[in-house]
Amino acid sequence: MQFLKHWKKQIKSSKRLIFKNQQVDLTLIKACIFDLDGVIVDTAHYHFLAWKRLANELGIEFTEADNERLKGVSRLRSMEILMELGDLTLNQHEKERLANKKNEWFVDYVERMVPEEIFSGVKVLIHQLRDRGIKVGLASSSKNAKTVIQLLHIQNEFDVVVDGNMITHSKPDPEIFLLAAQKLGIDPKDCLVFEDAEAGVEAALAAGMKCVGVGYPEQLGKADKVVSKTSDFAVTMLHEFN
Ligand code: BG6
Ligand code: MG
Repeated sequence: MQFLKHWKKQIKSSKRLIFKNQQVDLTLIKACIFDLDGVIVDTAHYHFLAWKRLANELGIEFTEADNERLKGVSRLRSMEILMELGDLTLNQHEKERLANKKNEWFVDYVERMVPEEIFSGVKVLIHQLRDRGIKVGLASSSKNAKTVIQLLHIQNEFDVVVDGNMITHSKPDPEIFLLAAQKLGIDPKDCLVFEDAEAGVEAALAAGMKCVGVGYPEQLGKADKVVSKTSDFAVTMLHEFN
């Protein structure tokens, strides 16, 4: 028993040990960074409905499978993907006008949201993480992220909020996660990201972070672990990333 205690202490203080000439990283997760749309609340569906409405107006066929490519990426990049799907060429002004139109429909859906729409179990998970001294951040490509978290009454649940207004390059670029880690004051390698988008998983890994994919392994297979819904992740699973 005494021996075990000694080693636990050693591990905590050194963080790195040499086993059989190999350096093993025993760093603990110190921060969890959550995506918003599709991870905390089903606004991913509202994005889909608004893009589908625009696609229909433009005579473009648009399925849930097509929508996967839009998840996590910026509004304008999403517009460009829609144009690719419809083989459509538009000038910058027209592109922005249509993307704004989509955003107005999205905001219409969002404004009717109520706090109960937060995915069940997510608040409990955030509280359990914080109780363990783990910092919690939000990193969403959406420029509407602050409005959404205010409507859900969860704006005070996060140590840091980074949104689409604060970055130049959206996911799959790692910028948003690196900025969140910097604001949290935590080394990227000690951060665990929760993401429902393939672009988001790629961004987290490119930032040198660990990632839990929320959704289907077929889409999110690059993540370190995949759960079907956010609340399926239990704090006891954190050790899997150590
Ligand atoms: C991401 C969504 O969170 O935000 C994308 O997954 C969306 O679907 C992106 O395009 C940008 O959102 P917004 O609200 O700024 O248009
Ligand atoms: Mg998302």
